[in-house]
Amino acid sequence: MKLEPSKATNGFEDVHLLHDAISGLNLDDIDSTCFFMGKKLQAPLLINAITGGHPGVMAINRSLARVARETGLAMAVGSQMAGLEDSGVQETYEIARRENPDGVILANLSAGASPEQAMAAVKMIAADGLQLYLNIPQELVMREGDRDFNGIIANIGQVVLSLDVPVIVKEVGCGLSGGTISALYDAGVRYVDVGGQGGTNFIAIEAMRSGKEISQSLLHWGIPTAVSLLEGGELGLPLALIASGGLESGIDVAKAVALGAVLAGIARPLLKELLEKSEEALLKKVNGIIHELRLVMLMSGAENLEKMARKPVIITGKVAEWTQRRGIDISGYARR
Ligand SMILES: Cc1cc2nc3c(=O)[nH]c(=O)nc-3n(C[C@H](O)[C@H](O)[C@H](O)COP(=O)(O)O)c2cc1C
Repeated sequence: MKLEPSKATNGFEDVHLLHDAISGLNLDDIDSTCFFMGKKLQAPLLINAITGGHPGVMAINRSLARVARETGLAMAVGSQMAGLEDSGVQETYEIARRENPDGVILANLSAGASPEQAMAAVKMIAADGLQLYLNIPQELVMREGDRDFNGIIANIGQVVLSLDVPVIVKEVGCGLSGGTISALYDAGVRYVDVGGQGGTNFIAIEAMRSGKEISQSLLHWGIPTAVSLLEGGELGLPLALIASGGLESGIDVAKAVALGAVLAGIARPLLKELLEKSEEALLKKVNGIIHELRLVMLMSGAENLEKMARKPVIITGKVAEWTQRRGIDISGYARR
Protein backbone atom coordinates (compact mmCIF):
# COMPACT_ATOMS: atom_id res chain seq x y z
CA MET A 1 0.00 0.00 0.00
CA LYS A 2 1.71 3.23 -1.13
CA LEU A 3 0.34 6.32 0.59
CA GLU A 4 1.01 9.65 -1.03
CA PRO A 5 0.55 12.80 1.05
CA SER A 6 -1.56 15.66 -0.29
CA LYS A 7 0.02 19.02 -1.07
CA ALA A 8 -3.06 21.10 -0.30
CA THR A 9 -3.57 22.09 3.35
CA ASN A 10 -6.61 21.50 5.53
CA GLY A 11 -6.81 25.14 6.68
CA PHE A 12 -5.94 24.40 10.31
CA GLU A 13 -2.82 26.57 9.90
CA ASP A 14 -5.28 29.52 9.69
CA VAL A 15 -7.07 28.50 12.90
CA HIS A 16 -5.56 29.88 16.12
CA LEU A 17 -6.46 29.28 19.76
CA LEU A 18 -5.91 31.98 22.37
CA HIS A 19 -3.23 31.42 25.02
CA ASP A 20 -4.38 31.79 28.63
CA ALA A 21 -1.28 32.65 30.72
CA ILE A 22 -3.15 32.46 34.05
CA SER A 23 -5.41 29.48 33.43
CA GLY A 24 -4.71 28.31 37.00
CA LEU A 25 -5.56 24.72 36.09
CA ASN A 26 -3.90 21.47 37.16
CA LEU A 27 -3.00 19.08 34.31
CA ASP A 28 -4.31 16.20 36.46
CA ASP A 29 -7.75 17.84 36.45
CA ILE A 30 -7.99 18.29 32.68
CA ASP A 31 -10.84 16.09 31.50
CA SER A 32 -10.66 15.13 27.82
CA THR A 33 -13.42 12.50 28.05
CA CYS A 34 -16.69 12.67 26.15
CA PHE A 35 -19.70 10.55 25.31
CA PHE A 36 -20.28 9.39 21.75
CA MET A 37 -23.23 7.22 20.72
CA GLY A 38 -23.91 6.51 24.39
CA LYS A 39 -20.41 5.29 25.30
CA LYS A 40 -17.60 7.07 27.07
CA LEU A 41 -14.41 7.91 25.18
CA GLN A 42 -11.15 9.01 26.81
CA ALA A 43 -10.75 11.69 24.12
CA PRO A 44 -12.84 12.97 21.19
CA LEU A 45 -10.93 10.85 18.72
CA LEU A 46 -11.88 8.36 16.01
CA ILE A 47 -9.51 5.97 14.28
CA ASN A 48 -11.15 6.50 10.91
CA ALA A 49 -12.02 3.81 8.36
CA ILE A 50 -9.01 2.18 6.79
CA THR A 51 -9.22 -1.47 5.89
CA GLY A 52 -10.74 -4.95 5.87
CA GLY A 53 -11.81 -7.52 3.34
CA HIS A 54 -8.55 -9.31 2.64
CA PRO A 55 -6.94 -12.00 4.80
CA GLY A 56 -3.68 -10.03 4.75
CA VAL A 57 -5.17 -7.03 6.54
CA MET A 58 -6.60 -8.91 9.52
CA ALA A 59 -3.52 -7.95 11.58
CA ILE A 60 -4.05 -4.25 10.81
CA ASN A 61 -7.62 -4.23 12.12
CA ARG A 62 -6.55 -6.29 15.14
CA SER A 63 -3.88 -3.72 16.03
CA LEU A 64 -6.14 -0.72 15.39
CA ALA A 65 -8.85 -2.26 17.58
CA ARG A 66 -6.41 -3.03 20.39
CA VAL A 67 -5.09 0.53 20.32
CA ALA A 68 -8.68 1.87 20.32
CA ARG A 69 -9.43 -0.31 23.35
CA GLU A 70 -6.23 0.62 25.23
CA THR A 71 -6.74 4.36 24.65
CA GLY A 72 -10.55 4.43 24.93
CA LEU A 73 -11.19 5.81 21.45
CA ALA A 74 -13.75 5.13 18.73
CA MET A 75 -12.83 3.17 15.60
CA ALA A 76 -14.38 2.58 12.18
CA VAL A 77 -13.60 -0.50 10.10
CA GLY A 78 -12.95 -0.13 6.36
CA SER A 79 -15.58 -0.70 3.68
CA GLN A 80 -17.43 -3.94 4.44
CA MET A 81 -18.60 -4.56 0.88
CA ALA A 82 -15.92 -7.26 0.49
CA GLY A 83 -17.25 -8.95 3.63
CA LEU A 84 -20.83 -8.83 2.34
CA GLU A 85 -19.77 -10.38 -0.95
CA ASP A 86 -17.49 -13.04 0.56
CA SER A 87 -18.32 -14.36 4.02
CA GLY A 88 -14.80 -15.84 4.15
CA VAL A 89 -13.32 -12.39 4.83
CA GLN A 90 -15.87 -11.28 7.44
CA GLU A 91 -13.47 -12.19 10.24
CA THR A 92 -11.12 -9.40 9.07
CA TYR A 93 -13.82 -6.96 10.28
CA GLU A 94 -15.20 -9.04 13.17
CA ILE A 95 -11.75 -9.01 14.77
CA ALA A 96 -12.33 -5.32 15.64
CA ARG A 97 -15.34 -6.18 17.82
CA ARG A 98 -13.64 -9.25 19.29
CA GLU A 99 -10.64 -7.17 20.40
CA ASN A 100 -12.80 -4.35 21.73
CA PRO A 101 -16.15 -5.78 22.89
CA ASP A 102 -17.27 -2.65 24.79
CA GLY A 103 -15.88 0.13 22.60
CA VAL A 104 -17.45 2.37 19.97
CA ILE A 105 -17.04 0.57 16.64
CA LEU A 106 -18.51 1.90 13.43
CA ALA A 107 -19.50 -0.10 10.37
CA ASN A 108 -18.58 1.29 6.94
CA LEU A 109 -20.07 1.13 3.47
CA SER A 110 -20.40 3.34 0.41
CA ALA A 111 -23.34 5.77 0.40
CA GLY A 112 -24.65 3.73 -2.52
CA ALA A 113 -25.17 0.63 -0.33
CA SER A 114 -28.70 -0.71 0.02
CA PRO A 115 -30.61 -0.73 3.34
CA GLU A 116 -30.19 -4.54 3.44
CA GLN A 117 -26.44 -4.27 2.99
CA ALA A 118 -26.32 -1.56 5.66
CA MET A 119 -28.20 -3.76 8.15
CA ALA A 120 -25.90 -6.71 7.43
CA ALA A 121 -22.75 -4.57 7.86
CA VAL A 122 -23.96 -3.30 11.25
CA LYS A 123 -24.85 -6.82 12.36
CA MET A 124 -21.47 -8.21 11.23
CA ILE A 125 -19.58 -6.25 13.91
CA ALA A 126 -22.42 -5.33 16.34
CA ALA A 127 -21.68 -1.75 15.30
CA ASP A 128 -22.67 1.29 17.35
CA GLY A 129 -23.25 3.24 14.15
CA LEU A 130 -22.69 3.09 10.39
CA GLN A 131 -20.45 5.33 8.32
CA LEU A 132 -21.63 5.87 4.74
CA TYR A 133 -18.83 7.32 2.65
CA LEU A 134 -19.08 9.74 -0.25
CA ASN A 135 -16.18 9.56 -2.72
CA ILE A 136 -17.35 10.86 -6.10
CA PRO A 137 -13.98 12.40 -7.10
CA GLN A 138 -12.17 9.13 -6.31
CA GLU A 139 -14.67 7.09 -8.36
CA LEU A 140 -14.38 9.46 -11.32
CA VAL A 141 -10.59 9.28 -11.42
CA MET A 142 -10.57 5.49 -10.91
CA ARG A 143 -10.49 3.64 -14.22
CA GLU A 144 -13.03 1.07 -12.99
CA GLY A 145 -14.94 3.58 -10.81
CA ASP A 146 -18.65 4.49 -10.78
CA ARG A 147 -19.95 7.16 -13.12
CA ASP A 148 -23.61 7.37 -12.12
CA PHE A 149 -24.49 8.88 -8.75
CA ASN A 150 -28.21 9.28 -9.30
CA GLY A 151 -30.43 8.91 -6.26
CA ILE A 152 -27.62 9.06 -3.69
CA ILE A 153 -29.40 11.31 -1.19
CA ALA A 154 -32.66 9.32 -1.42
CA ASN A 155 -30.69 6.14 -0.78
CA ILE A 156 -29.01 7.65 2.28
CA GLY A 157 -32.48 8.59 3.59
CA GLN A 158 -33.64 4.99 3.12
CA VAL A 159 -30.63 3.62 4.99
CA VAL A 160 -31.20 6.07 7.88
CA LEU A 161 -34.82 4.90 8.14
CA SER A 162 -34.00 1.21 8.05
CA LEU A 163 -31.31 1.15 10.76
CA ASP A 164 -31.72 1.21 14.52
CA VAL A 165 -28.23 2.73 14.96
CA PRO A 166 -27.12 6.22 13.87
CA VAL A 167 -25.72 6.88 10.39
CA ILE A 168 -22.66 9.06 9.88
CA VAL A 169 -22.23 10.38 6.36
CA LYS A 170 -18.59 11.10 5.61
CA GLU A 171 -16.55 12.55 2.79
CA VAL A 172 -13.10 11.03 2.37
CA GLY A 173 -11.03 14.09 1.55
CA CYS A 174 -12.93 16.65 -0.54
CA GLY A 175 -15.08 18.15 2.22
CA LEU A 176 -18.77 18.94 2.55
CA SER A 177 -20.37 22.33 1.85
CA GLY A 178 -23.08 23.91 4.00
CA GLY A 179 -25.61 23.07 1.26
CA THR A 180 -24.60 19.40 1.24
CA ILE A 181 -24.73 19.15 5.03
CA SER A 182 -28.15 20.80 5.03
CA ALA A 183 -29.43 18.31 2.42
CA LEU A 184 -28.07 15.41 4.49
CA TYR A 185 -29.85 16.79 7.55
CA ASP A 186 -33.10 16.96 5.58
CA ALA A 187 -32.57 13.30 4.64
CA GLY A 188 -32.51 12.41 8.35
CA VAL A 189 -28.73 12.32 8.91
CA ARG A 190 -27.62 13.62 12.33
CA TYR A 191 -23.88 12.80 12.20
CA VAL A 192 -21.64 14.24 9.51
CA ASP A 193 -17.88 13.73 9.07
CA VAL A 194 -16.71 16.60 6.85
CA GLY A 195 -13.67 14.65 5.53
CA GLY A 196 -12.08 17.78 4.18
CA GLN A 197 -9.27 18.50 1.78
CA GLY A 198 -5.71 18.64 3.12
CA GLY A 199 -5.12 15.07 4.25
CA THR A 200 -5.24 11.84 2.29
CA ASN A 201 -5.83 12.77 -1.34
CA PHE A 202 -7.69 10.04 -3.19
CA ILE A 203 -7.65 11.97 -6.48
CA ALA A 204 -3.84 11.84 -6.36
CA ILE A 205 -3.78 8.20 -5.24
CA GLU A 206 -6.17 7.03 -7.96
CA ALA A 207 -4.47 9.12 -10.65
CA MET A 208 -1.19 7.45 -9.75
CA ARG A 209 -2.79 4.00 -9.69
CA SER A 210 -4.40 4.42 -13.08
CA GLY A 211 -1.41 6.25 -14.59
CA LYS A 212 -3.78 9.00 -15.78
CA GLU A 213 -2.47 12.52 -16.39
CA ILE A 214 -4.53 15.01 -14.40
CA SER A 215 -4.01 18.72 -13.83
CA GLN A 216 -2.45 20.12 -10.68
CA SER A 217 -5.64 22.13 -10.08
CA LEU A 218 -7.77 19.00 -10.09
CA LEU A 219 -5.42 17.50 -7.50
CA HIS A 220 -6.44 20.39 -5.24
CA TRP A 221 -10.18 19.95 -5.75
CA GLY A 222 -12.23 20.15 -2.59
CA ILE A 223 -13.14 22.10 0.52
CA PRO A 224 -10.46 22.32 3.24
CA THR A 225 -11.39 20.66 6.53
CA ALA A 226 -11.46 23.91 8.56
CA VAL A 227 -13.69 25.62 5.97
CA SER A 228 -16.04 22.65 5.85
CA LEU A 229 -16.46 22.73 9.65
CA LEU A 230 -17.32 26.44 9.48
CA GLU A 231 -19.76 25.80 6.60
CA GLY A 232 -21.46 23.16 8.76
CA GLY A 233 -21.41 25.24 11.95
CA GLU A 234 -23.00 28.22 10.20
CA LEU A 235 -26.17 26.16 9.63
CA GLY A 236 -26.92 26.04 13.38
CA LEU A 237 -28.53 22.62 12.98
CA PRO A 238 -28.70 20.06 15.80
CA LEU A 239 -26.25 17.65 14.24
CA ALA A 240 -22.92 16.22 15.35
CA LEU A 241 -20.01 17.40 13.21
CA ILE A 242 -16.91 15.21 13.00
CA ALA A 243 -13.67 16.74 11.77
CA SER A 244 -11.32 14.75 9.56
CA GLY A 245 -8.94 15.31 6.70
CA GLY A 246 -5.29 16.02 7.48
CA LEU A 247 -5.57 16.04 11.28
CA GLU A 248 -2.50 14.72 13.07
CA SER A 249 -1.86 16.30 16.45
CA GLY A 250 -3.44 17.09 19.80
CA ILE A 251 -3.60 20.77 18.89
CA ASP A 252 -5.48 19.85 15.70
CA VAL A 253 -8.03 17.99 17.84
CA ALA A 254 -8.38 20.99 20.19
CA LYS A 255 -8.90 23.32 17.21
CA ALA A 256 -11.52 20.96 15.77
CA VAL A 257 -13.41 20.97 19.08
CA ALA A 258 -13.25 24.78 19.27
CA LEU A 259 -14.66 24.88 15.71
CA GLY A 260 -17.64 22.80 16.84
CA ALA A 261 -16.61 19.20 16.17
CA VAL A 262 -17.64 16.47 18.61
CA LEU A 263 -14.93 14.11 17.34
CA ALA A 264 -11.75 14.30 15.30
CA GLY A 265 -11.03 11.45 12.89
CA ILE A 266 -7.53 10.41 11.86
CA ALA A 267 -6.72 7.72 9.28
CA ARG A 268 -3.53 7.83 7.22
CA PRO A 269 -1.07 9.08 9.89
CA LEU A 270 -2.13 6.22 12.20
CA LEU A 271 -1.92 3.58 9.48
CA LYS A 272 1.52 4.88 8.52
CA GLU A 273 2.76 4.58 12.12
CA LEU A 274 1.46 1.00 12.32
CA LEU A 275 2.82 -0.12 8.93
CA GLU A 276 6.18 1.62 9.14
CA LYS A 277 6.78 0.96 12.85
CA SER A 278 4.63 -1.21 15.13
CA GLU A 279 1.46 -1.50 17.19
CA GLU A 280 3.46 -0.30 20.18
CA ALA A 281 4.59 2.80 18.25
CA LEU A 282 0.99 3.46 17.22
CA LEU A 283 -0.17 3.21 20.84
CA LYS A 284 2.55 5.68 21.82
CA LYS A 285 1.56 8.05 19.02
CA VAL A 286 -2.13 8.00 19.97
CA ASN A 287 -1.31 8.52 23.66
CA GLY A 288 0.93 11.42 22.57
CA ILE A 289 -1.97 13.01 20.64
CA ILE A 290 -4.25 12.72 23.70
CA HIS A 291 -1.54 14.13 25.98
CA GLU A 292 -0.99 17.10 23.65
CA LEU A 293 -4.74 17.73 23.51
CA ARG A 294 -4.77 17.94 27.33
CA LEU A 295 -1.80 20.36 27.33
CA VAL A 296 -3.55 22.60 24.79
CA MET A 297 -6.77 22.48 26.84
CA LEU A 298 -4.84 23.63 29.92
CA MET A 299 -3.05 26.40 27.97
CA SER A 300 -6.43 27.55 26.59
CA GLY A 301 -7.94 27.58 30.10
CA ALA A 302 -10.41 24.78 29.35
CA GLU A 303 -10.74 22.04 31.97
CA ASN A 304 -13.15 20.02 29.86
CA LEU A 305 -14.33 19.72 26.25
CA GLU A 306 -17.51 21.76 26.81
CA LYS A 307 -15.28 24.68 27.85
CA MET A 308 -12.86 24.01 24.97
CA ALA A 309 -15.77 24.25 22.54
CA ARG A 310 -16.47 27.80 23.78
CA LYS A 311 -12.89 29.14 23.74
CA PRO A 312 -11.94 31.96 21.33
CA VAL A 313 -10.76 30.95 17.86
CA ILE A 314 -9.03 33.44 15.59
CA ILE A 315 -9.39 32.61 11.91
CA THR A 316 -6.98 34.15 9.43
CA GLY A 317 -5.69 33.75 5.86
CA LYS A 318 -7.28 31.52 3.25
CA VAL A 319 -9.95 30.17 5.62
CA ALA A 320 -11.06 33.68 6.67
CA GLU A 321 -11.14 34.82 3.04
CA TRP A 322 -13.10 31.76 1.91
CA THR A 323 -15.75 32.10 4.63
CA GLN A 324 -16.04 35.84 4.00
CA ARG A 325 -16.66 35.24 0.27
CA ARG A 326 -19.31 32.67 1.22
CA GLY A 327 -21.02 35.12 3.58
CA ILE A 328 -20.29 32.99 6.65
CA ASP A 329 -20.02 35.14 9.77
CA ILE A 330 -16.99 33.96 11.75
CA SER A 331 -16.64 37.03 13.99
CA GLY A 332 -18.36 35.24 16.87
CA TYR A 333 -15.52 32.71 17.20
CA ALA A 334 -12.89 35.37 18.00
CA ARG A 335 -15.12 37.33 20.38
CA ARG A 336 -16.03 34.45 22.70
C1 LIG B 1 -5.46 3.27 3.10
C2 LIG B 1 -6.78 3.96 3.35
C3 LIG B 1 -7.95 3.24 3.19
C4 LIG B 1 -9.19 3.85 3.41
N1 LIG B 1 -10.35 3.12 3.29
C5 LIG B 1 -11.54 3.68 3.59
C6 LIG B 1 -12.74 2.93 3.57
O1 LIG B 1 -12.74 1.72 3.30
N2 LIG B 1 -13.90 3.56 3.86
C7 LIG B 1 -13.94 4.89 4.18
O2 LIG B 1 -15.01 5.43 4.49
N3 LIG B 1 -12.81 5.62 4.21
C8 LIG B 1 -11.63 5.06 3.93
N4 LIG B 1 -10.49 5.82 3.99
C9 LIG B 1 -10.60 7.27 4.24
C10 LIG B 1 -10.33 7.65 5.68
O3 LIG B 1 -11.26 7.05 6.57
C11 LIG B 1 -10.40 9.18 5.84
O4 LIG B 1 -11.70 9.62 5.57
C12 LIG B 1 -9.44 9.91 4.92
O5 LIG B 1 -8.25 9.17 4.76
C13 LIG B 1 -9.07 11.30 5.43
O6 LIG B 1 -8.42 11.24 6.68
P1 LIG B 1 -6.82 11.39 6.84
O7 LIG B 1 -6.43 12.67 6.17
O8 LIG B 1 -6.60 11.40 8.32
O9 LIG B 1 -6.19 10.19 6.18
C14 LIG B 1 -9.24 5.23 3.79
C15 LIG B 1 -8.05 5.93 3.96
C16 LIG B 1 -6.83 5.33 3.76
C17 LIG B 1 -5.56 6.13 3.97
